[in-house]
Amino acid sequence: MTFARQAATVLAAVAAGTLLAACEPPPVYSVQRGYRGTGMAQVYRPATLVAAAAINTPPPAATPASPDGPRASQVFQNVKVLGDLSAGEFTQIMVDMTAWVSPEQGCTYCHVAANFADDSLYTKVVSRRMLQMTQYINADWKQHVAQTGVTCYTCHRGNNVPVNIWFRSAEASQTPGMLGNKAGQNSPAIQVGLSSLPNDPFSTTLLGGEEIRVISQTALPDGSKPSLIMATEHTYGLMMHMSTSLGVNCTYCHNTRSFASWELSTPQRATAYYGIRMTRDLNSNYLGSLAGIFPANRLGPTGDVPKLNCATCHQGAYKPLYGADIVTGHPGMRAGVKTAAAAADTPAGPAPSAAPEPPAPGPAGMAPIPAAPAAPASAART
Ligand code: HEC
Ligand code: HEC
Ligand code: HEC
Ligand code: HEC
Repeated sequence: MTFARQAATVLAAVAAGTLLAACEPPPVYSVQRGYRGTGMAQVYRPATLVAAAAINTPPPAATPASPDGPRASQVFQNVKVLGDLSAGEFTQIMVDMTAWVSPEQGCTYCHVAANFADDSLYTKVVSRRMLQMTQYINADWKQHVAQTGVTCYTCHRGNNVPVNIWFRSAEASQTPGMLGNKAGQNSPAIQVGLSSLPNDPFSTTLLGGEEIRVISQTALPDGSKPSLIMATEHTYGLMMHMSTSLGVNCTYCHNTRSFASWELSTPQRATAYYGIRMTRDLNSNYLGSLAGIFPANRLGPTGDVPKLNCATCHQGAYKPLYGADIVTGHPGMRAGVKTAAAAADTPAGPAPSAAPEPPAPGPAGMAPIPAAPAAPASAART
């Protein structure tokens, strides 16, 4: 073998190794989730599951505090959200919030040590809004979070800033120059599963209310669906994000026979439908309301507030923390959960009003989608 040949063999081996390194190494398991022959299977890699399990370990169980004694609103000076809790429960929540959000910095991440009633740190003001948001999610978005619910830990996991947040991409808002506007395409981004789809599928779908359903129901365009290719790209970008955030394949929600059909979809698709509406709601009404409160170093390249997506809560698991009950034992995480003592104080009155229905109609309440007529071969070619 000549030297050149040897070198070529080595090069070929290195090139093959480099190429294969991009593939997922075996083993890979496939689990059937629907009737045989329908392609409803989930593909799992043990290594990915182990990594997701490590991130999704629930925090240590709550240390219950006594619900008896004076209310926090009577004991402390500046309590606006957690006033109904007993002083003991209130202090317990402070200890929990420290462990969930600022374990390294401690109480003084949110408080001026000399005066705990002082609101001058932005972190305290943000936390108060976060308390309201958490209670709101648990009370008004049961269509998504069910009885499982969320706490600060669901998103923060011991970090000041949750690991998965997003900002509007600076690139997407550039004015097209001589080379045109890439619109965030062709620079593989994590949020769209390293595909070349636009790297910000969220501004339109998880903040704005762009129509996600883009598949036409008729053989020829009838003007009822957005004609923009961009909208379709956003749909696929969002779907890639949803799959990776939950650690599942498309068939966790869809039957590939028809991605549009709700009848063929799994029940999880309806939960996801509400998840999209919930995320939009939280981004505009809670994170959005904190514009002007977050300091400049927390804002995105175009000056927007940090926002959440499916990965903020899910972090690779089909249910955050695999559905562990982390809310029970933390009364401050649910609004209106009166502790035993507070309930005894309250005279029998009208029952608290039921949580209002979220504004968006569910898939079930929608106009039935007519079955698409089979496209004649000639129409398909035009
Ligand atoms: C992640 C932010 C955060 C951390 C960390 C935190 N707190 Fe708080 N704290 C708050 C918020 C928000 C309020 C106001 C709650 C309300 O309005 O219902 C508050 C209020 C208080 C109050 C009431 C003060 C008054 O008179 O109005 C006390 C006391 C308190 N916290 C103690 C603590 C202690 C002790 C720790 C550490 C173990 C701690 N906090 C850690 C956010 C935090
Ligand atoms: C649904 C997800 C979610 C939940 C639940 C949640 N947060 Fe947050 N939190 C966020 C996001 C997103 C941000 C913005 C990140 C940033 O500051 O860059 C944030 C920011 C914060 C900040 C500002 C951190 C900083 O350094 O700028 C504090 C403090 C905070 N949250 C406290 C809390 C507390 C306390 C709770 C529970 C009562 C809570 N959060 C619940 C998503 C969440
Ligand atoms: C967690 C559930 C879930 C997963 C996983 C998921 N989807 Fe979806 N998909 C939905 C929901 C919900 C909608 C409808 C959204 C709406 O109406 O707002 C949808 C809509 C769509 C549409 C538009 C359908 C129409 O009527 O025009 C397409 C196409 C699509 N998904 C493709 C995919 C692909 C490809 C994947 C895998 C990369 C995927 N989806 C993964 C839940 C999911
Ligand atoms: C505020 C936190 C939060 C956000 C944000 C969030 N989810 Fe969830 N999601 C949950 C919780 C909690 C559950 C568990 C509910 C239960 O126990 O049934 C859940 C459950 C689900 C399920 C049901 C899984 C199953 O096997 O039954 C799907 C599907 C889902 N989420 C999709 C999404 C999608 C898609 C998004 C983004 C558009 C999203 N979620 C955003 C908290 C969240």
